[in-house]
Amino acid sequence: MDGIGSPQGGSGSVAVVDRPKRVVLGVSGGIASYKAVEVCRRLVDSGVHVVPVLTRNATRFVGEITFSALASEPAITSLWNGREPIPHTRLGQAADLVVVVPATAGFLAHYANGFADDILEATLVATRAPVVVCPAMHTEMWEHPAVRDNIATLRRRGVHVIEPVEGRLAGSDSGAGRLADPADIVAVVMGLLERVTEPGDLAGVKVLVSAGGTREAIDPVRVITNRSSGKQGFAIAEVAVARGAAVTVVSTVEPRALRGIEVLRVETAAEMERAMYSLAPACDVVVMAAAVADFRPKLVADSKLSKADGVPEIVLEQTPDILAGLARRRRPGQVLVGFAAEAGGDVAVKAAAKMAAKGVDVMVANDVLAPGAGFDHDTNEVVIVGSGGEQATVGLSSKQEVAAAVLDMVVERLRAVGRAGQENS
Ligand code: CTP
Repeated sequence: MDGIGSPQGGSGSVAVVDRPKRVVLGVSGGIASYKAVEVCRRLVDSGVHVVPVLTRNATRFVGEITFSALASEPAITSLWNGREPIPHTRLGQAADLVVVVPATAGFLAHYANGFADDILEATLVATRAPVVVCPAMHTEMWEHPAVRDNIATLRRRGVHVIEPVEGRLAGSDSGAGRLADPADIVAVVMGLLERVTEPGDLAGVKVLVSAGGTREAIDPVRVITNRSSGKQGFAIAEVAVARGAAVTVVSTVEPRALRGIEVLRVETAAEMERAMYSLAPACDVVVMAAAVADFRPKLVADSKLSKADGVPEIVLEQTPDILAGLARRRRPGQVLVGFAAEAGGDVAVKAAAKMAAKGVDVMVANDVLAPGAGFDHDTNEVVIVGSGGEQATVGLSSKQEVAAAVLDMVVERLRAVGRAGQENS
């Protein structure tokens, strides 16, 4: 996507991709390499098109002929052997998913640092497909801080890690580090393939989300802010991407690395207002999940306020209501979603009143005093109200589940105006 002021417009739906799902099965060189053979066989039996990519060290443990005989294509073992000059880009671009079985400590170090020295590493750097790594190594290696750091880095980038289990290792050792069961690996891969390769009901839809709490300066070092973590906004972005949307997030917080999401960092309500007004006209769906400060200091001190000058009297002024402004400016057919943070009482009634006052289509109401819900929690509990009288209650659930329920109501709205893919389209 382009940056501010020039996002691409347009909506539509995509056709169902009716072809076998394509998995690159990466094999790095460890004693558990032989178990990748079973993963290969099970994936092929499940109807998956499997392309085996072996590191040179993997071929010391298992012959490439074994994989070539069982997989959907001959095994690839080098960047240089075949007739293709750049096999890794084709492999990476065409993959629906890449799974690495086993992922050795050495492989994880290279992958976490973006090395592209062999065919497997280069394929991983050249892909935007989901990646699953299945580490297997001795307990001492698995517990080494360097390996822990590399795993954490990969997780932060969205790589799925199937943790090793306790059990017998090479030699007479046993402990944590044994490759997860091939059947479990295949189950995870199949689950991910279902999720990522089905054309989503938001395919072709452009979604703009705001996230986090704004920070309003008092002086160069002090701010007025709130407890919003941005987690609910990013959960909406993440689920919308998984359902096929092109997503931009205007955020006051640093996100976890999320693939497929464009993030624009802002700090104040005024900056958020500018960014939202600039990007919204090209979007089909706009979600104001941010906790915008309602008040900001009328004057910002040029230098740090000092105790020596006595207790300052800070005069506040109201910030612009971004959501109401978006409603006034919205283009026909655009779906506008707001959040209502309420402290007790009948949150649905309060949210419906806010929805009508601000002129939005969908309002997500949460009781910020409810245990386990709202600011900085990983869970939330909401009532979603629509301007047509629709209502959906989501009990204490993950923020991703709440996001899915919000997007369900959005999709209904988009379908009503012909801007989202119909079911089974
Ligand atoms: N909102 C906004 N701009 C503001 C304040 C709020 O765009 N200056 C948006 C929020 O992002 C949210 C919705 O308005 O989507 C409702 O926010 P909330 O804080 O619940 O309500 P307020 O309108 O601020 O009213 P009050 O705090 O008085 O309940």
